[in-house]
Amino acid sequence: HQIIHYNQIDSTNRVAKEQAKNGVKEGTVIISEEQTGGKGRLNRNFSSPQGGIWLSYILSPDLKPVMAGRATYLSALALAKTINQITNLDAKIKWPNDVLINDKKVSGILTEMGAELDKVNYLAIGMGINANFAISKLPVELHNKVTTIFNELGEQIDRVAFVQSLLQEIEKLYPKLDNFEELLAEWKGYAYTLGQEVKIADGNQEYSGLAVDIADDGALIVKTDRGQEKVYSGDVSLSH
Ligand code: BTN
Repeated sequence: HQIIHYNQIDSTNRVAKEQAKNGVKEGTVIISEEQTGGKGRLNRNFSSPQGGIWLSYILSPDLKPVMAGRATYLSALALAKTINQITNLDAKIKWPNDVLINDKKVSGILTEMGAELDKVNYLAIGMGINANFAISKLPVELHNKVTTIFNELGEQIDRVAFVQSLLQEIEKLYPKLDNFEELLAEWKGYAYTLGQEVKIADGNQEYSGLAVDIADDGALIVKTDRGQEKVYSGDVSLSH
């Protein structure tokens, strides 16, 4: 891997997209100690203080649009596996792409693509991991749903070893982009949402149901009063 490292940058996803447009090699990793304009899903800000792991990597094979979703599943799985290897914590994946420890979000993934017609030119996959900093570094309104590895573990992790394992896991899973069924089967072993009553907020719609499975196309299948529905986007939370 070529690794481009910054002490501070607005957003590693922004740099990754720029690099990808300039034709940088697939597998290139952009990593920053701190982000001043970190981006989350749904156009949200993403707090990225020092001590975390803020990175983006570029994939640029001749992929179909469906690959963006698959790459996100792959990344979430690689992340959960890495956390469980490096720590003795039990990380789970919340559909579609948050990684949780003890029911709280420790990591988020943002996949962006540059596409022409139905050909994907590149994917910039951004992963933010709340690693070696205390929760108090994050905005107070997040404290009841977000955590850090440091808070859960009571000590710091070796971030270099973490990134090495993460990249290795991504590489190992990479061939499964063409074998999504296998990828999903492994993903389900880490699923937080499946089998639970969930609430889905999608735009101005809100409904609840039982999360029963993931469809072949990556949608969350939810059983509601109206029958089974496929959910493609939105925020999912457990209803208690
Ligand atoms: C989310 O949970 O909404 C997704 C968060 C993705 C954050 C990562 S941090 C590295 C990369 N650069 C960004 O600006 N965002 C992603």
